Amino acid sequence: MGSWAGAGEFLDLCEVPLTDRGSRLLVFRNDGGPGTEGAAAGGLRVAGAIYERSPQKSTHLRRIAVFDGAGRPLDVTVVEPEGITFGTSEASLVLVGADALSIGALGQPVSVVLEPFGIGAEGQPVSEVEGTGIHWSATAGSVPSAGDDGVVRLWLEPGASVLVRIGQPVDEAPEPDSHAEVAASASARWSEWFARLPAVRATNLELVRYAWWILASNIVQLDTHPGIDAVVPSKQGYVAAWQWDSYFISIGLRHGDAELAGDQLRLFFAEQAPDGGLPDVVHDHGTLACVGDMPPGDLATLARIHGADSPMVTQGDMPITKPPLAAWAARAVDAVAGTQLQSELRDGLDRLHAWWFARPTPDGLPGYEHVYSSGLDDSPLFDDGGPVFAPDLPSYLVVALDAMADLAEESGDPETAARHRALAESTAAALVERRFDSEVGRFVALTPAGRRGTVTPFGLMPLLTGRLPAPVKAALTAQLADPTLLGAPYGLPTVGLSEPEFNQDRMWRGPVWLNVNWLIVQGLLRSGLEADAAALAEQTVAMVVASGGLHEYWNPLTGTRAVGATTGFGWSAALFLDLAVWLAASDAGR
Ligand code: GLC
Repeated sequence: MGSWAGAGEFLDLCEVPLTDRGSRLLVFRNDGGPGTEGAAAGGLRVAGAIYERSPQKSTHLRRIAVFDGAGRPLDVTVVEPEGITFGTSEASLVLVGADALSIGALGQPVSVVLEPFGIGAEGQPVSEVEGTGIHWSATAGSVPSAGDDGVVRLWLEPGASVLVRIGQPVDEAPEPDSHAEVAASASARWSEWFARLPAVRATNLELVRYAWWILASNIVQLDTHPGIDAVVPSKQGYVAAWQWDSYFISIGLRHGDAELAGDQLRLFFAEQAPDGGLPDVVHDHGTLACVGDMPPGDLATLARIHGADSPMVTQGDMPITKPPLAAWAARAVDAVAGTQLQSELRDGLDRLHAWWFARPTPDGLPGYEHVYSSGLDDSPLFDDGGPVFAPDLPSYLVVALDAMADLAEESGDPETAARHRALAESTAAALVERRFDSEVGRFVALTPAGRRGTVTPFGLMPLLTGRLPAPVKAALTAQLADPTLLGAPYGLPTVGLSEPEFNQDRMWRGPVWLNVNWLIVQGLLRSGLEADAAALAEQTVAMVVASGGLHEYWNPLTGTRAVGATTGFGWSAALFLDLAVWLAASDAGR
């Protein structure tokens, strides 16, 4: 096996399972993590990466165990992106394609035990995922001894291997490639990927390697878009493409794979509705584009929070989308990679922006009809229900319109440029005029209950317009510096610390999210506050490195993973990487 100097150390097979580019399999240790207690303890467990299904409830193989020739168990000794080594290299396990894995005996004979989740009606090994079975085929040099208990036991001579495939039954299992071939191709795959790693400071290298691994290992091909590698937020719990996640992920990917970065956007524009709207989620069975598409679990949660009669639950045709960061992301990819993504997507982008400005609004500034469209599931901004006209959305649209104006200027179309620029100007001006409350020095949101001034970093997003009057800018940066508001020990809390709604662990009610920090870093830069931007970037990167993981969100008081947050999270990896690359480039420029 090759060495990625550290990337494998994060793969503890407990919180972070082994998976691979395009694989739908997750390999866990059986002796750790929820769902692994009981009969099947010991060895490895293989689960599926499936939309709307937790890996605790998608077990394919309850146990894989490997023994030496004398029947002694061989421990997992090395975990690397390209696979798992047992004992002193007596055997290894490598993931193959979307749904298979190969176990091979290397220098010594070994025996392998494969215990499926259960046994089906015809004595066939089956997985916990309905309709899927476990199929295996072994090379020459293997001796199977399947008992009538459904457990597969195999003796493998050195060089022999077994390929285990999860899926629909097939009449004849194809002869597997040799284990040496699949191992060599895994090794080549990861060498090629790590060769693209961008330059960063030595202190950040270990976590950056891990981030780079996450961005490739979170790839799946969705059944609805089989030709596209979609980088999902996480293969544990978030196995689909979410719109704004895809934008943030492309910002990280641009540093090493512009094509893959572009594909994250192309996937959504391939699903653009005739009216210009984009779906919230593209998944294996279709899209989540309106209330009527929501999974039952989400509907139940929303009904509990907002009431069963809330239009966000009952109005089936209410659109659900995510903030319009596509033009910005496309331009950011082009800026680093020299691609033409923004002009490729130009028509779709124009239609998307027009869609937002055509939504119902009380005063010309667009808002979020559905809480999920904001990306901020449980934010107090939505505690009074929807629609919510928060200051972040118009700010994002100003960035988008500026990006379209820049593109039009570059392509020698000054009229279009002037039109986009004028709308950016008037939107930025209206934002200050209609959403800034000068008495309290804050941007406020309009909700069904009136004006809500809860301090959140979303009230600082107008910095992104780069057009704020000096006193407004000063009022916002004062919130950043205030230890009772947004100046938490570990960076930007998603709700001000002294607000009654603040909770250090609850998703959008307090924890630090890297997309928010990244957006505010960009806002400070666009507002000419370079030193503040650099300070926030340094603080964010330091928090991530000290926490030792790329979690979904962090506790702003301790800088550690917040309770309930998943880990190995896509946009945390992408944006940590982007900030680390930016800091390294600024070092070089100093
Ligand atoms: C959660 C977040 C949302 C994100 C999604 C996928 O629902 O609140 O912003 O897009 O997860 O990561």
